[in-house]
Amino acid sequence: MELGFTSLEQECENILLPVAGTVPKWLSGTLIRNGAAKFEIGKESYNHWFDGLAMLHKFTFRNGQILYTNKFLKGHTFRKSMKKGEIVYPEFATNPKYSLPSRVFLYATGHYTDNASVNVSKVGDSFITMTETPHRVEFDPESLNTLGRFHYMDRVTGHLTTVHPQFDYEKEQIFNYITRFSHTSTYNIYRIRKGSARREIISTIPVKRAAYMHSFGMTENYVILTEFPLFINPLRFLLTGSPFIDNLFWKPEHGTTFLVIDKNSGKMIGKFKSDPFFAFHHINCYEETGNVIVDIVSYEDPSIIKYLYLDKLRQGNFLIPTPQIRRYYLDLSNNKVLKKILSEDFVEFPRINYQRCNTKNYNFVYGISDHESNGFTNKLVKFCIKSKSFKCWHKENNFPGEPVFVAAPPVTAEEDEGVILSLVLDTEKHKTYLLILDATSFLEIARANLPFAVPFGSHGQYFE
Ligand code: CO
Repeated sequence: MELGFTSLEQECENILLPVAGTVPKWLSGTLIRNGAAKFEIGKESYNHWFDGLAMLHKFTFRNGQILYTNKFLKGHTFRKSMKKGEIVYPEFATNPKYSLPSRVFLYATGHYTDNASVNVSKVGDSFITMTETPHRVEFDPESLNTLGRFHYMDRVTGHLTTVHPQFDYEKEQIFNYITRFSHTSTYNIYRIRKGSARREIISTIPVKRAAYMHSFGMTENYVILTEFPLFINPLRFLLTGSPFIDNLFWKPEHGTTFLVIDKNSGKMIGKFKSDPFFAFHHINCYEETGNVIVDIVSYEDPSIIKYLYLDKLRQGNFLIPTPQIRRYYLDLSNNKVLKKILSEDFVEFPRINYQRCNTKNYNFVYGISDHESNGFTNKLVKFCIKSKSFKCWHKENNFPGEPVFVAAPPVTAEEDEGVILSLVLDTEKHKTYLLILDATSFLEIARANLPFAVPFGSHGQYFE
């Protein structure tokens, strides 16, 4: 298991991967994955799975063949760290040893880390990597070479954002939000129109204390911020020198509040109070008969965050909290919230047939799961919402990452017609392979072996 959290130094470019099985001929595009791949710099080490230096992985599918490239994201954080031989910027759970004045100076001048290791996306024609600081880094989708800091064409400022922008396929617009810390902090929801790199603020929501929210929900007409009672103390973070993770405070007495905001007018439609819970990932949201439906991978509390320290993970300490797939019904006319548990089995890194089903009624969720609760990513699952049944893929000592669904042509195909792409670490062979499952049957149709073991990554996207 330690292998999944061990640094990978090797980079390669356009190598042809040996394939076992048959890659569908229609699969013609590129999967780009992101994740931490280097956990030590000089004599110093990062503390948490979310902290390591970003590496990009690219799989290009053409005529049944797969080409692979992997490169470190060589942004400011990477280059400066390598040059100095030490950790230079604060990450989620690791802080460099700075004096208070230099730390205040860093934040006052917007010098956050650009170690954008969590997800990838496209804005206009630019491919970008993302972390939760406002810095996005642009890369070349062909070579994976780092092109430098990505600059939006606007003056929007803030301190914390999400790596899970939502795409509205009807309007062809990107939605996301950025939190700005101040005496009165604000959540600033914005849109980016097609072909543009300009963020237009559609709503600014002042709050006494800003919450840590890793993702948000979206329907046809609304943006939903699920405000967990996990509040950030930005001043304490600045003054004490403790890592970001230690400045999050769980206040369950406040409950979790769903903020529903109209995407067009920016008006707050309602605030819906519920029992306290925490989540990283929204699965999908949609509107139905006066309700906003929010499907979300929910934890009783945020203790999961503290289970993901590297020393614990390397010891194989996987008795991590089990989330539920929950469905919340927000009744717009009565301001009532109804909760339904769809599944009590472990599912994380949820993916759907996004292009077709996002903001719409749907039936299938794909994710990673734990087989017999003895390893936190040792199973892939397909969950059917209608029948509440699971299809599983599991192999002893094989640890799959986030399953990315790619729809098969034509558009009239069923919701689950397509393939699942997942990077799997085989701890017996000490190698990683790209697994391709038929998404309908959930059976393996092909795999492509990499020449090395890749540490567990975070998110990836498929580009046509
Ligand atoms: Co995420």
